[in-house]
Amino acid sequence: MREYKHLLLANKAWAAERLEENADYFTRQIVGQQPEFLWIGCSDSRVAPDQLTNTEPGGMFIHRNIANLVDPGDQNLMSVVQFAVEVLKVGHIIVCGHYACGGIQAALEGGVDGHVHDWLAIARNVVDNHRDELDALPEDQRANRLVELNVHDQLVQLARTDVVQKAFAAGQPLELHGWVYDLRDGLLKPLMEIDANTPLEAVTKPEKVLV
Ligand code: CO
Repeated sequence: MREYKHLLLANKAWAAERLEENADYFTRQIVGQQPEFLWIGCSDSRVAPDQLTNTEPGGMFIHRNIANLVDPGDQNLMSVVQFAVEVLKVGHIIVCGHYACGGIQAALEGGVDGHVHDWLAIARNVVDNHRDELDALPEDQRANRLVELNVHDQLVQLARTDVVQKAFAAGQPLELHGWVYDLRDGLLKPLMEIDANTPLEAVTKPEKVLV
């Protein structure tokens, strides 16, 4: 059987199971969504945010791109952030990177072209921002440290966006969290947090988590 047909069959089974558990499962969802979280993560197929946090449909608004980058000029990302903060009023935004990220590896070492190369310009900025620290590390530790530093830089970038600054100024409850996901043990590791009271000029780099 063609692989894609498995998806349709699996979906049928999933929907039937949900209905067996709760006859209102889907009719309840038509009413609307009230997620508490916005997740900004990498598109990597191994890092499925709702699965790895055991979140049911309706619990998490999600944006994913290669290397979980925050570009304030990216209308795709910024419309997701605006809708999540202003309409859904999520209380938390999580920017999550992951070790062994191919996008981060490429930002460091090249080897990609076209759209992927262009997209990774933001990640190459992160390399430039932290050049001294990265150069001082053994070569095999650089990419995973860059994953952590990238989460830091993207979270600060997110905090500076008009949408987040407006919410902070209005006293809307909103916290930003920088996490990293470890493919080897399936665990999320918190790196840093930013809220309305955090002075953005003074956000320190996270400790090195993975050695
Ligand atoms: Co990745």
